[in-house]
Amino acid sequence: DFAPASPRPLHGRHLLVTAGPTHEAIDPVRYIANRSSGRQGFAIAAAAAEAGARVTLVSGPVALPTPVGVDRIDVESAAEMQAAVIAALPADVAVMVAAVADWRPVAAAGRKLPKSALTDEGIRLAPNADILADLGRHPQRPRLLVGFAAETGDPRASAAEKLVRKGADWIVANDVSGDVMGGTANQIHLVTTDGAESWPHLPKEEVARRLVARMAQALQNHGN
Ligand code: CTP
Ligand code: CA
Repeated sequence: DFAPASPRPLHGRHLLVTAGPTHEAIDPVRYIANRSSGRQGFAIAAAAAEAGARVTLVSGPVALPTPVGVDRIDVESAAEMQAAVIAALPADVAVMVAAVADWRPVAAAGRKLPKSALTDEGIRLAPNADILADLGRHPQRPRLLVGFAAETGDPRASAAEKLVRKGADWIVANDVSGDVMGGTANQIHLVTTDGAESWPHLPKEEVARRLVARMAQALQNHGN
């Protein structure tokens, strides 16, 4: 039809975003983590709120202000992030931007360990649940499920594999060989079940705005 584009195309929708790293405690002063500033996830939460969505932002430890109009839930570990994500359902869209630590120490020590205890045998690791993949199989699976993948190899090939393995609708992949981690710009590849497209190098806020516009479009195309 010829209706003009709405300035609030996500009005009435609930968008769930994860952002930042997770910290997996070894003891009170040490942790295992992935590198992540949280900037891209926070920009998506901000853009979605501007587009009229109700936004729940589940954030790992980051040094960023809460975007206007966004409900923020702070977590530390992957297990806490997963619990917060499940508690926030139902959602129309889930965008898992967080750099979730893949492993955690089996048990966090209650007091600071001497460095002599920080050995292969001293720190036993267990794999974390895959929050995105579990959401892909959840009875309340969001209609549009979006993952992110930071890669140093061929981002499109890795993303296509993760799309299938995790049951996601889109994977937003980027090559982090350069200065993307913590930087203000991003060059992404949008990999969907229909194929892949590579976007130009853009500020993270602009990547966020364009992704949010695509999300609104995708929800409309699939009907209410
Ligand atoms: N992810 C998640 N839970 C995990 C690991 C990853 O939800 N325990 C999500 C991330 O938030 C992201 C996507 O899965 O949206 C891809 O993360 P990535 O680390 O690239 O995937 P992995 O399956 O962990 O693969 P890799 O071996 O490359 O780390
Ligand atoms: Ca990983």
